[in-house]
This record gives sequence, C-alpha cells and structure tokens, in this order.
Amino acid sequence: MRHLNSVSGLPRADIDEIFRRSSVLKAGVARGERPPLLARRVLTQVFEKPSLRTRVSFEAAMMQLGGSSLFLNSSEAGFGGREAVQDVARVLGSYSDAIVLRTFSQKLIDEFIKHSGTSIINGLSDDRHPCQALTDLFTMQEVFGDLTGKKFVFVGDGNNVATSIASACAVMGVAMTICAPPDYRLPEGFLRDLKKRIPSTVIEQSSDFASSLADASIVYTDVWTSMGQEAEANHRRVVFQPFQVNEALMKLAPPTARFMHCLPAKRGQEVTDGVVDGPQSIVFQQAENRMHLAKGLLTWVLDVPVD
Ligand code: CP
Ligand code: NVA
Repeated sequence: MRHLNSVSGLPRADIDEIFRRSSVLKAGVARGERPPLLARRVLTQVFEKPSLRTRVSFEAAMMQLGGSSLFLNSSEAGFGGREAVQDVARVLGSYSDAIVLRTFSQKLIDEFIKHSGTSIINGLSDDRHPCQALTDLFTMQEVFGDLTGKKFVFVGDGNNVATSIASACAVMGVAMTICAPPDYRLPEGFLRDLKKRIPSTVIEQSSDFASSLADASIVYTDVWTSMGQEAEANHRRVVFQPFQVNEALMKLAPPTARFMHCLPAKRGQEVTDGVVDGPQSIVFQQAENRMHLAKGLLTWVLDVPVD
C-alpha cells in the first residue's frame, strides 16, 4: 500500500513517476480531457487547519477524474475527544480509497498510517508539507526543464514547507540554500537525518543574501507565522522583517530567477505586491499545479495507470 507521508521517504524513481503522471494529466486537461480514471473511488479529507489549495485541489482532482471527495473538519471527525484516533482511522479507512490529513501533530498522520488500512496523504503537518514540495519541484522542472545545476534559495522560516522542500531538493539533486534568522533555521536533527538518508544532499544555511542569491534559480518564501503559531506573530514580524522578499532583494538574483511562494501570502510582510505580481513570479502556475500534482499523486498512490 502506498502513502505520501514525507518526501525524503520516496525514491527518485517514484517522484519522477508522480511528475510524469502529473504532466500527462495536465496536458490532457489542456486538450479538454478528463478521463474517469478514479471512477467510484472515494477520497476523504480531514483537516485540523484551514486550507484553500490543498483541500480544493484534491477535491477538483478527484472530481475531474470521475471520483468523489468528502471533507470533515477535525471536530466532526472527533479525534481523541469523541473517539480514539485509532478507531477514527480504522472506520474512515474502511470507507475510503485514500485519506488526506492536515494536522498539527505529525504523530496523528503516523497513527493513521498504522491503523487506517488505506492510503494516507500528508496534506501538511507542523513538520512537513510534502504535497507542496513535490508541486514546487514539479513546477521548477516545468519552468527550467533539466534541474541539473539549478539552485533553490529559500528566504524565511525553516518551517514545514522549508523542510519538505529541502527533502525534495535532496532527492532530486538540487542544491538548496536557506536564509533564515539564526533561531529559525532548518532543525539540526532534521538535517542530520536527511544527510544520513541522502548523503549527496547539498543544503547551506546562510545569512549572506548577496552570495546566496547571486546564482539562484528559484527564490522562495513562505509566511513568517505558520498556522498554530499565531501567539508568536508580533515577535516574528520583527525578527523576519530583514528577510522580506521585495524588489531590492530580487535584484540580488539573476533576471532568470523565478519567484515562488506556496501561498497563502501575507502581502506586505514576507513578500511585496511588486514581487508576487512581478514578471519573475510563477506563484499562480505553482498554485494551479497543486491540482495536476494531486492527480498524478492520487493515481500513483492508488496504482491506476494514466496511459
Ligand atoms: N499552499 C497550501 O497548502 O495552501 P492551503 O493552506 O490553502 O491549502
Ligand atoms: N507554513 C505555512 C504553510 C501554509 C500552506 C503554515 O503551516 O501555515
């Protein structure tokens, strides 16, 4: 049984296959094709946090491929309060071909993998956002073709998105630099594990914008305050202010560099309007690709051929 829990757990060949499927299905949509590859399949989504892209891209993907998707918020699912997590997992698993979970604790997703008996997709936890990172590398490949020699520069918080991108870059052989305030870098334990698992990993943590950005292919940022960290928002706004991706910072990167953001963006905080809406931005191509990637991923997880 296939799951998507973390990117670093996926071999390169699996990622290439998910990307291939996503491309095939995206090209099909452009020709007006919506093949019923997932007819009568049921996807259940259970989210503890808000979502626009993740929830709707999976729903749209299921519907365009002829399947159905249903959504529960965590209080309806009754995690831990109304019912033990392992019981919720087992029951939902018996109704669903796959489950997408968005949680605070990564442990909840691990529990579902243990008890649900069905395919589990991590739709974001406090630690990871693998669907986003796969979409980001897929989009990067779409824009640049070959990823050899390309460099991914993440400016901002070493959060769930950054760690999954680091894992994706490691698997795909892309060098990554993260420019973060000292207390907000990628967790040491995470980096140690990643380098142990994938010894060819090239990840630098730097506070020198000019040298980090000089040969950037992608400049990426995410919100300074992630969901669940709202109490720290005022402090974070001060600490991260020098890390705002604005027009001056983008000038340190080559004109061929592209700007990415997983969205939602807090315009005027981590990124300015001029950058999000500027000529180097590919954020909406990236957001659209969430749906194409969801299709590639769902067909791969369910082992349904696309061609
Ligand atoms: N990028 C992303 O996961 O967006 P949502 O939080 O809206 O799902
Ligand atoms: N780091 C952000 C990503 C949102 C898609 C968060 O966890 O809120």
